[in-house]
Amino acid sequence: IVEKAMKDIEKVDKLSELDRVKALYLGKKGIITEQMKNIANLSPEERPKVGKLLNELKDKIEAMIEEKRYQLKQEEERKAIEKLWVDVTLPGAKRKVGHRHPISKTLEEIEMIFVSMGFEVVEGPEIEDVWHNFDALNTPEWHPARDEHDSFYLASNIVLRTHTSPVQIRTMLAKQPPIAIISPGKVYRRDYDATHLPMFTQVEGLYVDKNVSVAHLKYVLERFAQEMFGKDRKILLRPSFFPFTEPSFEVDVSCGVCNGKGCQACGYTGWLEILGAGMVHPNVFKNVGYDPEKWTGFAFGMGVERIAMLKYNLKDIRDFIQNDKRFLANF
Ligand code: PHE
Repeated sequence: IVEKAMKDIEKVDKLSELDRVKALYLGKKGIITEQMKNIANLSPEERPKVGKLLNELKDKIEAMIEEKRYQLKQEEERKAIEKLWVDVTLPGAKRKVGHRHPISKTLEEIEMIFVSMGFEVVEGPEIEDVWHNFDALNTPEWHPARDEHDSFYLASNIVLRTHTSPVQIRTMLAKQPPIAIISPGKVYRRDYDATHLPMFTQVEGLYVDKNVSVAHLKYVLERFAQEMFGKDRKILLRPSFFPFTEPSFEVDVSCGVCNGKGCQACGYTGWLEILGAGMVHPNVFKNVGYDPEKWTGFAFGMGVERIAMLKYNLKDIRDFIQNDKRFLANF
């Protein structure tokens, strides 16, 4: 019996299996247990001898089983530790760090520049009614800017804002001058090519107080251009037209000097257009209940994608929305 038990125990390689073998010999119906029960049938002289022998057998098998149990436990522990083992000499797995989108970075930079000059950042809704987006901005029904071909209408008088200028209206309706705000956000137009996206980003600016002149506008925009593109930059105001400003300007920034890394994107004239601006039209003041005799102001609006393209010397505005990691990794 001991030899057979030894073989059985030898073969065991799992703790659960060991319990099964233990039951086979020592359990309630186990081989040894059954033998013990038979003692009653033996002669009185034989009983103590056989009893002793069986007890010894039982102790022996029990000892073998416990010895095996110990071995199996050790083995299990060794395997668990092996799983935890780390080869500290392996080269580390390189994790790529994500980073901000170039438009977010540019926008943040623009905001910082104006905030440092005392402008407050406000936001407005992307879904606008035509009154805020057009009428209040002195852009009447017949104006070509209202053409359905250029704007995304959601209903007859609801439009995805075509510019951030309606935030001028919302700001002036909500409070009295003095006002110095910028308003960043998404705007929508039906346009798509290398220099136009149907959804793009603008930053509006509005400054209203007594005795505001074009000189103030020029100073603020020159400061902006120099902070954004370099201290050596100049700005140029060219006459233009917007329904909500008079006079109106297109504002250019001078090209940067070429350095070892190449030349910054530069127009044929040495000037690059960066934004539209002007003095707030008296009709706009009237539309928000301001007295145009008392208040004066300037406004401007710039395309963030365009600023980013100039700053980083990029050629195709569509790169900003392709989510090509090879492009994005450059910023
Ligand atoms: N809203 C104009 C545009 O989108 C830009 C602008 C803003 C011009 C404020 C003048 C004053 O083209």
